[in-house]
Amino acid sequence: MCGIIGILGNEPAAPRLVDALKRLEYRGYDSAGIATIDASGKMDRRRAPGKLNNLDEAIAADPLAGNQGIGHTRWATHGLPTVGNAHPHVSGPVAVVHNGIIENFRELRQELEAEGHQFETETDTETIAHLIASNLKKGMGEVEAVKAGVARLHGAFALALLFEGRSDLLVGARKGSPLAIGVGEGEMFLGSDALAVAPFTNRVIYLEEGDVCVLSHESYEIFDRKDKPVERAVSIVQGAGAAAEKGNYRHFMQKEIFEQPDSTGRTIGAYTNILRQTVELPGEGADAIDWSEVKYLYMIACGTAHFATRVAEYWFEQCAGLPVKTDIASEFRYREPALAKEGGLALFVSQSGETADTLAALRYCKEQGLKTAAVVNVPTSSIAREADLVLPTLAGPEIGVASTKAFTAQLAALAAVAISAGRAREQISRDAEIRLVRALTELPRLMSTTLQLDERIAELSRDIAKASDVIYLGRGVHYPIALEGALKLKEVSYIHAEGYASGELKHGPIALIDEETPVVFVAPFDGLFDKSLSNLQEVAARRGEVVLISDAAGVRAAGETPASRIELPDCDPFIAPILYSLPIQMLAYHVAVEKGTDVDQPRNLAKSVTVE
Ligand code: AGP
Repeated sequence: MCGIIGILGNEPAAPRLVDALKRLEYRGYDSAGIATIDASGKMDRRRAPGKLNNLDEAIAADPLAGNQGIGHTRWATHGLPTVGNAHPHVSGPVAVVHNGIIENFRELRQELEAEGHQFETETDTETIAHLIASNLKKGMGEVEAVKAGVARLHGAFALALLFEGRSDLLVGARKGSPLAIGVGEGEMFLGSDALAVAPFTNRVIYLEEGDVCVLSHESYEIFDRKDKPVERAVSIVQGAGAAAEKGNYRHFMQKEIFEQPDSTGRTIGAYTNILRQTVELPGEGADAIDWSEVKYLYMIACGTAHFATRVAEYWFEQCAGLPVKTDIASEFRYREPALAKEGGLALFVSQSGETADTLAALRYCKEQGLKTAAVVNVPTSSIAREADLVLPTLAGPEIGVASTKAFTAQLAALAAVAISAGRAREQISRDAEIRLVRALTELPRLMSTTLQLDERIAELSRDIAKASDVIYLGRGVHYPIALEGALKLKEVSYIHAEGYASGELKHGPIALIDEETPVVFVAPFDGLFDKSLSNLQEVAARRGEVVLISDAAGVRAAGETPASRIELPDCDPFIAPILYSLPIQMLAYHVAVEKGTDVDQPRNLAKSVTVE
């Protein structure tokens, strides 16, 4: 997902723009650029492919003057990640940076080429620059030219625009991609999120869908989708800056793995009343879910968030006796699913709250008349704004592209919601609620104990790092954890991995077993352990390299079976999948470090996939 920054400042803009872009690196990118306007109104631009240090070098070699500018990290959608395709794109006096996709850019481009506009790139964004320059040529002022231009754009965009000759004007527009104003002291900022403007201010205004904003050093105006002047709330965002620092950790992923006792604890605290030992969902009230009316639960998400719903499926069935269907959003939105309009509840899970497929699936369910709820980590996100009920995770900003603390916070929130549903549907007793709430409140301590296995797991990772294929196996509620373990390893170490239900081993995957293929079993000593042990012995009998992630009883039961063991503390089976997420995250992290990959920004990945 691209990152945007705009500055109307009182000191040189170039270093500030690059500093802000560094805080947006986590979103994933493959080129970057900035443009500035100097005191005389002259515009200049520097762009570079690859990482930001390449842009830093280009600026050092040929400095840019001016206290105002725009900057961009590009995750290529249209056109290769070359310097020519890097933003800002310029046409005449107009410079623009863009996050999103313009779906009708080809028709607009043809129209503009017919007017004589010469295009230099294959990007959709360059069309925006020419469209607004064309409006200026027709006699419109800058703001009118932008409003008229964006009115013709179909698709998703967050834009920041600068105009040659105007050193006190920055225009922004938002439709489908997030954009925020940072309110400074005699300075004004625009950014993709609070992190982008965190170095300059903690006063943030989140623009709404269809908003256009007009900034000067001292003021801002916002116009809604009907071009009516509108006020938007100023939020004080604490800690955004700190989240963007690694502290003593080598990578954000490592920091966020170790933050999980806190991040999960905060989320659990927001969903439980420890004195009454009850679950109390946050943000309820008018939008509360009437579980007696819910006949069918749909849970829709992507990637890691989807695996969180796959775990929750077991909880909702076991605690609440509720029929559940989970689906990946990219399939759900096009499948024309037969939805239970009476009594159907659609629950969406998303860390960023901006994933295009998940947002589209939410909109589809609303069109179908379903009540919607969303478990999100960014309360100001599009999914949070559009769902009927928001169930926040309190993981704090997650910078590492690979989701870790957000995943366990999602699981904690979903576990609480499942308990709440079970009580409301009278499927679980008060005693059961007390046990389950107590199990949740013990999780942070158990996580802290589990994190002490880090060195042991780092040792094991050296062997795994030599493999070209790894298989993860789990049963029951740990099957989705096996799927998540495989995804984590793939996305940060680039080693191919597959997650499977252990019971499926003999239905094919066992053909893959040999001494070159590590098999990771996620298997606490629960009611299914004996079955998993049989599978483990089948693998060991074929000289497969086995890693058993279990507890003391499980390790004992494995006896002399040749397997590397990772022994977790005993825990209530209800929370086991949350706790067992940690060793698979740590394993993926250390394998990636061993492989020397770009752990926090793995190749080709974006933190939030805001395009289809
Ligand atoms: C997680 O490790 C991945 N980076 C990715 O699968 C992610 O979970 C997925 O893109 C969904 O993102 P969201 O939670 O922001 O919607």
